[in-house]
Amino acid sequence: MFSKYKKSAAAPKKAATVTNIADAKPKEEVSPQQVARLRKPVPTRAAQAAPADKDRKRKERLGEIKILLHGELLEHLNLAALEHATEAELRTEISSIASEILDEKGIVLNRDDRQTLNKELYDEVTGLGPLEALLQDDTVSDILVNGPQQIFVERSGKLQLSDITFKDEKHLLRIIDKIVSAVGRRVDESNPYVDARLADGSRFNAMVPPIAVDGSLVSIRKFKKDKLGIDDLVNFGAFTEEMAAYLQAAVSTRLNVIVSGGTGSGKTTTLNALSSFIDNAERILTIEDTAELQLQQTHVGRMESRPPNVEGKGEVSPRDCLKNALRMRPDRIIVGETRGEEVIDMLQAMNTGHDGSMTTIHANSARDGVSRLENMIAMAGIEMPLKAVRSQISSAVNLIVQASRLQDGSRRMTSITEITGMEGDVISMQEIFRFQRVGLTPDNKIIGHFTATGVRSHYSERFRMWGFDLPASIYEPTTMEV
Ligand SMILES: Nc1ncnc2c1ncn2[C@@H]1O[C@H](COP(=O)(O)OP(=O)(O)OP(=O)(O)O)[C@@H](O)[C@H]1O
Ligand SMILES: [Mg+2]
Repeated sequence: MFSKYKKSAAAPKKAATVTNIADAKPKEEVSPQQVARLRKPVPTRAAQAAPADKDRKRKERLGEIKILLHGELLEHLNLAALEHATEAELRTEISSIASEILDEKGIVLNRDDRQTLNKELYDEVTGLGPLEALLQDDTVSDILVNGPQQIFVERSGKLQLSDITFKDEKHLLRIIDKIVSAVGRRVDESNPYVDARLADGSRFNAMVPPIAVDGSLVSIRKFKKDKLGIDDLVNFGAFTEEMAAYLQAAVSTRLNVIVSGGTGSGKTTTLNALSSFIDNAERILTIEDTAELQLQQTHVGRMESRPPNVEGKGEVSPRDCLKNALRMRPDRIIVGETRGEEVIDMLQAMNTGHDGSMTTIHANSARDGVSRLENMIAMAGIEMPLKAVRSQISSAVNLIVQASRLQDGSRRMTSITEITGMEGDVISMQEIFRFQRVGLTPDNKIIGHFTATGVRSHYSERFRMWGFDLPASIYEPTTMEV
């Protein structure tokens, strides 16, 4: 059945070979060399490490000078006065003190190196050191630090190793400490991981040794000032205009929607975009671990849950927020991510008058998403027969939207599935739209297209009654020539 999508003779025959081996053909027909050629080369560590030797030495030298100057700068600068200095004043001040010290020590640097050094010193004194340049680079969406010498960044959906490094683990720890102490938290051996929000709204997570074995691990999801809207997502090919029209009908007619997806698949972005379909007159309450959503409506109450403090006190869990939200007369509740016992209250809210509520969950398909919900309910200690649990889920959730990050880095809405009720002990579902993947280009870009499945929405009558009369044609499957 896959013959249609087989690669041309020039490309490596991956699929064909697998069948060959399974076939009854005698083994000796495939020579060891032929077999060896089937495997693509595996990148080695050396191939991944980027900077050339000369460049590295220059960077190391600059790094050492920077550490030296930083120590001296802190002694020379009047930190109290810094608070009132403008950025320009501070930059001038730092560069003049730096050049004084350089002269004193007899260190000669060219103009470019001096400029780099001044910038890095400024970032070191006022900001987050090496991370500062990445935080200011708008093309970077994620920053992932694996110990002091390795910082990966994500650009346009692809992870790449950057040439930025920390001097050593101590340097990295100092920056982590600067971030977490600014939000009143602490991270050390006894408290080795922490979640925080940076001043610019970016989501920050750090884990320090000894739990992080090779040096501190830091993950930053950068805050996007202009969140991708429905039109952007359609333009990027995350879903089609037809799917957008369907989703508008679903959100406007107050279906309960769950956005499901893996880590970094675009769940929050999708949730945010979907929220734009909510009527401006409605009172919306949002609950998140880290406030990321940016709703366009006027009547929005935002809540951020809080982990316990250093003494283990003061926790306000998402469930606490949700329980309280129900007393705050919301029209809709949006929970950034449901991952624990708050699932009970979420389903209850969806079932009891707060229809049109939305959340995200970590799952790889709609079916998988439902199992996740079942597991979360079980883990919350609710003793209910499975059938009752399923019936609760099926009456609470109307729609599961699957977000995926595909292997070429593109993010797409790979499926829109409706929950239509129960059939015996099983929750019945029907897929309305899906991304049909058909192959891979030689440069590893995914070939595929969106299509309706041919199934008419279970809610089409409801859509019509609410004034969203979608043409029957949007439910018709589309094909693509391969
Ligand atoms: N369709 C898209 N096209 C391009 N970039 C996208 C798309 N959807 C999301 N992104 C970007 O991908 C990154 C991750 O998105 P998002 O935060 O929505 O993922 P998530 O699934 O909520 O992640 P997490 O599991 O960490 O909460 C963001 O930088 C976002 O701007
Ligand atoms: Mg998210």
